[in-house]
Amino acid sequence: MKSTPVTLAELEHLMVAVPGGPLLGTVKGNIPGDKSMSHRAALFAGLADGESIIENFLVSGVTQAMLDALTDLGVKWSLDETTLHVWGKGVRGLQPPEAPINCGNSATTLRLLAGALAAAGVPAVLDGSAGLRSRPMKRIVEPLRKMNVPIEATGDGLAPLKLVERAEDEPLKPLNYTLPVASAQVKSCLMLAALAADGSTTLREPGPSRDHTERMLSSMGVEVHWEEKQNAHQQVSTVTTLKAPNPLRLNPLQMSLPGDFSAAAFLIVAALITPGSNVVLQQVGLNPTRTGLLEVLIQMGADIQVSNRSDQGGEPVGDLTIRCSKLKGFIFPPGSAANLVVRMIDEFPVYAVAAAFAEGVTEVRDAGELRLKESDRISALVQELLAIGVDIQETRDGFVIRGGGAVRGGSVQAHGDHRLAMALAVAGLASQQAVTIHQAEVVSESFPGFIPTLRALGANLSEAKIRRSV
Ligand code: S3P
Repeated sequence: MKSTPVTLAELEHLMVAVPGGPLLGTVKGNIPGDKSMSHRAALFAGLADGESIIENFLVSGVTQAMLDALTDLGVKWSLDETTLHVWGKGVRGLQPPEAPINCGNSATTLRLLAGALAAAGVPAVLDGSAGLRSRPMKRIVEPLRKMNVPIEATGDGLAPLKLVERAEDEPLKPLNYTLPVASAQVKSCLMLAALAADGSTTLREPGPSRDHTERMLSSMGVEVHWEEKQNAHQQVSTVTTLKAPNPLRLNPLQMSLPGDFSAAAFLIVAALITPGSNVVLQQVGLNPTRTGLLEVLIQMGADIQVSNRSDQGGEPVGDLTIRCSKLKGFIFPPGSAANLVVRMIDEFPVYAVAAAFAEGVTEVRDAGELRLKESDRISALVQELLAIGVDIQETRDGFVIRGGGAVRGGSVQAHGDHRLAMALAVAGLASQQAVTIHQAEVVSESFPGFIPTLRALGANLSEAKIRRSV
């Protein structure tokens, strides 16, 4: 009998995590380059005058969307393994794209490009996957319009976003603005637009979102000043001021990107919860606006040592040694919760796994932004952790976990969310039975080497392709 060939689209990826022995060893060079910095480095290099060389660039689904967008805008680049060369065209040198720019699943690509195109004055349409079309864009459209950027959203502030041409002798209006929520994507979008403003722009944020744009633009010759302020209730806010360069010119970049702390987070939690583990992660980015997870885990009793601290291209890095630890639950303190939440905003899926293996109650609050990520990271996380036996309850702006009980294992869905897929795999390494993650292909959006990196440490993690059920 003749069988019909199966097309790639009909195949579904499964990832299977089986509980087993300890994770042991050193991860050198395998922690992918930081995702946020890779996006910024590629885009800012495209806006610079001259050739940039960026080493340890993250080669993945989301950063490919940024590189393809640069091609659409007439910027030449080449990738040799993880070294990216970009021949920048200057801010006003970008070419109008012939078709809508497809940002895929990447909100960072879309929001940062909106700011860059606003500065460039180039007409363009920014679009993406169905998932990206459902993410909130009003948060950039409203302040951009205050700067006189000619931009339109679809429906009630969604992508596709449409920018129309702006003449070179029409500078944008400088902005003095308080972001309603702390967001590095929004802040970075506005900072990029502010490069073409007629004066200085000041942005205030109700929390210390990641400051990679500030650091990178400073290293490219832009005058940026940023500082944190703390009130009596330990609430931290930030003020960022950017002076538009005159003439509008960015120096090219030459840097090696630190390992992504948000990728390392999966390895950190895997080592903490898998009995007998002892793992060293080298050259991980330790920017304090990203390491809230470390602080919380250490307060929960995690044995994590930091050594070999140094500076890499204006960003702090170091090595982490993680030993399996008895963890106890953690209640996010009122007041300072928002500060901690923003500094570990991408780590909640894997943090919830650590909390499931910790003794006692963990309560996350002030984390409503999680509902607006690649999935609704509160409800999807709660649904899938319940499916493998975790005692977790959803709240309006977080969740409550009663940890220390048996985590059974089972079959779960990734909800199109790379971080949820990887967090569930980590849970499977220490649960009673295997965890099987459906639609796990999404992992390659941010950490294509996730499975081999964990396998090299001894994890029983594998992938399989099956015919998609209809
Ligand atoms: C990012 C900022 C965060 C984060 C995202 C990357 C960035 O988003 O969740 O993965 O590179 O600026 P928000 O700014 O929307 O909080």
